[in-house]
Amino acid sequence: MSARWIIGGELIPNPQADPEKKYLSPQAWAERHHPGYYANLTGGGYYSLKVLLANLKNRMPTPAVLLPSYLCSDIISTFREMEVAYTFYPVDEHLQIDLGALGKLLADPENQVLYIIPWFGFPLPDHATEAIRAWKVQGLTVWEDRAQCLFPEFAPLGDAIFYSFRKFLPLDGSLLLTKEEVECRPDHFNDVYLAWRRQGQAFRSWFVHDNLPFEAECLECFARANDYYHQPGVAGMDVKSLAWFEQTDIDTETAARRRVYTLLHERLKEYALFPDPEISAASPHCFPVVIDHRDWVFDTLKAQQIFAPILWRFDEGEVPVHFTGSHALSGRILNLPVRTGFPDDAWEYMAGVFLESLRHG
Ligand SMILES: Cc1ncc(COP(=O)(O)O)c(C=O)c1O
Repeated sequence: MSARWIIGGELIPNPQADPEKKYLSPQAWAERHHPGYYANLTGGGYYSLKVLLANLKNRMPTPAVLLPSYLCSDIISTFREMEVAYTFYPVDEHLQIDLGALGKLLADPENQVLYIIPWFGFPLPDHATEAIRAWKVQGLTVWEDRAQCLFPEFAPLGDAIFYSFRKFLPLDGSLLLTKEEVECRPDHFNDVYLAWRRQGQAFRSWFVHDNLPFEAECLECFARANDYYHQPGVAGMDVKSLAWFEQTDIDTETAARRRVYTLLHERLKEYALFPDPEISAASPHCFPVVIDHRDWVFDTLKAQQIFAPILWRFDEGEVPVHFTGSHALSGRILNLPVRTGFPDDAWEYMAGVFLESLRHG
């Protein structure tokens, strides 16, 4: 089988996007989807989280946050950087929260904030949502990390919520929503990061759209960009990202992702992390599969120009080994891309390469 499409990998602006078109701004999305919240913009999820942590430290002398045991290592490093204490609550290999264990942790008055992640753009299961709502009535503060969501239809749970646009769109920025006003004063634009990222996007566009041999250059630029992503202070959302955001019809984007997800689910259900997904309310970030020989399958797909990220590999010691469920998942999960702009044949092709690779794995 030869590669017919380049699927996944870094996002690049669509050359057909019409600069005259204007859809909703992030602030308009905030009003539409999150009425009653204060809305702030930052340069990315990392910066929104730093704002939340700084405000929490101002309110409480020794705050502590409960983090799910399945999470992105950037979250842990941000807590360390901001010197806010955290404790993990257990999540199993099917992303079910151990509500009994969580309840015990919440009984400790040190743990004032619960951090939740609607993983991969899907809501938490109903029983977890109900339990969290009940704890909120008793005074619990919830932070909802929607980095893997793009304005889904399910109801928010967080007293604070943030999005990360770079996970879904070829632009940067984060919308931070809070029930109480927070101090959020972006003090710079991350120019070095943005310059490398835009250059990477240009190389990738020449490589993907024009078939020019710039793959190595594009990877180099994105790697450089990532080296400069985390900066002191709070970066703001840059003007170009704001303009590109408004040129994006997010309703269409989400609908297309749901459609691709559904197609893949029909073909690959037996490997899906979510056996019975509630797709109508979700904004799928990807199609997570749980498989043996994951790294081998990853390499096989990559050799066919299908870039399926691994979210998340735990670095040494970050999540203690006794969280066996999360560790088991992090060793077996692969995230097949779910994108707009490809014909159904491309998804059939990807599913075929994936199934073929399992046979040989
Ligand atoms: C769940 C989650 N939260 C937060 C972040 C940080 O978001 P950003 O990449 O916009 O800084 C990430 C990044 O990968 C993430 O996956």
